[in-house]
Amino acid sequence: MDLGENVTAVHGPNGSGKTNLTEALYFAFTSRSFRTTDRRDLVPFGGNLARVRVGVTDDDVTHEFMCSYGREEGSRSFLDGAPASREDSSPFRPAITVFSPDRLEIVKGPPAVRRSHLDAFVAARWPSRSGLRSEFGRSLAQRNALLSAVAEGSSSPGQLDTWDLQLATIGAKLASARQEAVSELTPAYRKATLDLGLEGENDLIYRASAGVEASSIAAGLGERRDTDIAARRTTWGPHHDELRLEHDGRQLRRFGSQGQQRLGLLSLMFAERLALVGAGRPVPLMVLDDVMSELDSSRRERLVELLGTGGQSLITAAEGSLIPDSPAVTRVSMLELLDAASRKGSDDPKADG
Ligand SMILES: Nc1ncnc2c1ncn2[C@@H]1O[C@H](COP(=O)(O)OP(=O)(O)OP(=O)(O)O)[C@@H](O)[C@H]1O
Ligand SMILES: [Mg+2]
Repeated sequence: MDLGENVTAVHGPNGSGKTNLTEALYFAFTSRSFRTTDRRDLVPFGGNLARVRVGVTDDDVTHEFMCSYGREEGSRSFLDGAPASREDSSPFRPAITVFSPDRLEIVKGPPAVRRSHLDAFVAARWPSRSGLRSEFGRSLAQRNALLSAVAEGSSSPGQLDTWDLQLATIGAKLASARQEAVSELTPAYRKATLDLGLEGENDLIYRASAGVEASSIAAGLGERRDTDIAARRTTWGPHHDELRLEHDGRQLRRFGSQGQQRLGLLSLMFAERLALVGAGRPVPLMVLDDVMSELDSSRRERLVELLGTGGQSLITAAEGSLIPDSPAVTRVSMLELLDAASRKGSDDPKADG
């Protein structure tokens, strides 16, 4: 299929393959699914191979991304027909942001989900900081292992000094990056909530529970050392920080309606898109699966209007009537698409779908 220049809206009944289509697009660029961590689920029932090919055109130059997963051969990625790593293809690969009903966990779920989402944004916004999260995770695991060893008497508490300092240093970098990201995102988030009709006061707040200074984190870890040894884990630090989405001073997570939570997540996604564009990156491709449900007709119109302001997006809905009319929208019927694909498949025995 071809995507329209702006908003491509795919509609079709339940089970017709809309989520599969969005997942395929995501897979082509990332060699992952946003729906499952088990790539085996992507292989067609009764088949051996999942394969997606996507062409991306920019200033008349087209690059072809191909990604496959096979039970025997594992994952493979190609750029213009040659095997390519993520790094090889990254200069040509558009950033892709996904909304799916499962991702409402970012708003509704526990703080860890929001931390991880924020860290992914930090990595996309500042590629030089993309290793901070895993570096912090490793350091935390090492300190926790040592806490257990001290509790069992096989190591001395003094050995914790080095690890406290290391954890504090990386933790401070991570917490500062998150804080910087949130202050950059906040004005764009407020603007998006206004555009999408999430009425009221809206705020993004990063609560750096341990602060953003290495010295204060190190001191805090020192004070809690005995507690941590008894618990055999680090009970305090940036891994307990919280990103809050607040609506009229209350957490959207606890008090927001279904529609409000959806608008909150979409606003966050639009804010991220704006921040990346502001940093000189190409406009990310937005893939919004089943985005219209729970939104009233005026919010559905606002969403399409906002998507229409720039960049390409693919949205899906179970009913065509859920997609507002707009010059920005190219409508595609999933059933017609499948019909055309199966006719093409029977005409050309070499077609690989
Ligand atoms: N690995 C697989 N191989 C073949 N078919 C699969 C595989 N995984 C899922 N399916 C089936 O593909 C069909 C399409 O599912 P999909 O989730 O894309 O539908 P949908 O159009 O998004 O529906 P809904 O409107 O309910 O969200 C379903 O019948 C599903 O059971
Ligand atoms: Mg679906």
